[in-house]
Amino acid sequence: MLADNQAALVSAPIAEEPRRLKERVPHIEPLFEDGIFVEKYSRNMKRSAGPDFRPIVRYTLDQLRDVPQPHVLELGPGPGWVGITVAQKRQDAQVTGIDVSEAYTEIANQNARSMRLEQRVSFRQGDARSLHDFSDNSIDAVISNQSFHYWDPPAIVLNEIARVLKPGGVFCIGDDRRDLTPMASMIVAVTKWFMHPQIRRSWMSSIQGCYTADEVSSIFEQSDLKEFWELKLGARMFMARGRLATLD
Ligand SMILES: C[S@@+](CC[C@H](N)C(=O)[O-])C[C@H]1O[C@@H](n2cnc3c(N)ncnc32)[C@H](O)[C@@H]1O
Repeated sequence: MLADNQAALVSAPIAEEPRRLKERVPHIEPLFEDGIFVEKYSRNMKRSAGPDFRPIVRYTLDQLRDVPQPHVLELGPGPGWVGITVAQKRQDAQVTGIDVSEAYTEIANQNARSMRLEQRVSFRQGDARSLHDFSDNSIDAVISNQSFHYWDPPAIVLNEIARVLKPGGVFCIGDDRRDLTPMASMIVAVTKWFMHPQIRRSWMSSIQGCYTADEVSSIFEQSDLKEFWELKLGARMFMARGRLATLD
């Protein structure tokens, strides 16, 4: 949720020791079902969050460059701007988003329509922990931004991702880290004052519910993605990404 000129700082490699950490407090956000809140969040994401999710889009598109007509599944798309960006940049891609929130699903479909992408981008209400609408080995890429820390527990979703991906399928999951570096803490402390108060409060609680880099590693190492993933750390966010083995 940072402005363009802050992107370089956010994606800079960590050069500092993390501060002493508070315990993780799982974040449950009732406002994800509040139409007015999701509308504000959608506007905020459209305007200023590109630098947060651009690395996910870039990696995924790069990995999919030789895959014709890829089917991309987005988990926890909220207002849908990440999947919409993928579809804008890859004109033969089909994007499906699955989100538990009815309010977000509605606004995400509106956003896809407003970009004239409704033929290729659609959002459905559902839980990432049970992707029963998707058969085994059916998806080319799974992406997600800032939703991982809501999955309870995340390993179930990672196992679902491993199940639905085709051999050679790509995954890229980004989220905030609770172990912000001091530099990232300073950026958050300043940036939050440019947000609507409800979004600010939600983001602050959300960071407290996020995982540290070590916790993310331990979750992936106990999942069906354990052989395939790598962790990329920024000062404020992590990206866990990889590609399943191919059949040959
Ligand atoms: C902070 S929002 C992020 C939205 C969007 N990815 C973005 O970057 O703007 C987190 C989203 O994850 C969704 N979510 C939480 N738990 C989920 C689950 N188990 N399955 C699917 N979506 C979930 C929430 O409803 C919400 O839309």
